[in-house]
Amino acid sequence: MKKNKKNPWADHYTYQAQQEKYPARSVYKLKEIQKKYRLIRPGNAVLDLGCAPGSWLLYVSEILEKTGFITGIDQKKISIHIKTPHAIMVDDIFEVAERDRLDGAPFNVVLSDMAPNTTGRKDVDALRSLRLCEAALHMAQKYLQPGGHFVCKIFQGSDTQEIIDAVKASFESHQLYRPKTTRKASKEIYIIGLGMKSENVPS
Ligand SMILES: C[S@@+](CC[C@H](N)C(=O)[O-])C[C@H]1O[C@@H](n2cnc3c(N)ncnc32)[C@H](O)[C@@H]1O
Repeated sequence: MKKNKKNPWADHYTYQAQQEKYPARSVYKLKEIQKKYRLIRPGNAVLDLGCAPGSWLLYVSEILEKTGFITGIDQKKISIHIKTPHAIMVDDIFEVAERDRLDGAPFNVVLSDMAPNTTGRKDVDALRSLRLCEAALHMAQKYLQPGGHFVCKIFQGSDTQEIIDAVKASFESHQLYRPKTTRKASKEIYIIGLGMKSENVPS
């Protein structure tokens, strides 16, 4: 494979994403998760946290088509065309988490692929990733319907078990999943909460 000067990390999935007109290779991670767990169904309302540059949004929209609703939130702007009814917010999740309402809620599925800017220090990156996961779980607890599902990326660190236990407490069952498309050097995994408990109270 030829070296890509603009993106030294480019691999088979990067080129496949370009060919299939997805703005990021991360789409294949959600495709794997969806194939295994069938979380998203036509007609669902889906919240996508950390949605830029928009490949998860496009894939979710392929599943929902013109039914259902997608709400996307990211600090960065996106420039893609989505067929499904949607609301995209350019915002910081920590600010949105403080508010009392959100377009599209209640949701059937809450997804978070949020990632902090990495510093190269694994412990710092893991702690920042944990804070983003806590905010995502808070959003799920606030806006998911009972029985709804949750998917959240985390960079593993010494405190990861805390958030796994919090997901365990809020959902009927939970799974940890590392997609095959994840780069070998990456510490990321996805925590999956299946079936939000109805007695759940936001933390
Ligand atoms: C790996 S990218 C997501 C890729 C996306 N799932 C896709 O398929 O196109 C992670 C995103 O998390 C966002 N993010 C990080 N911290 C955030 C915050 N505090 N609030 C909102 N978004 C945040 C970043 O701006 C970045 O776009």
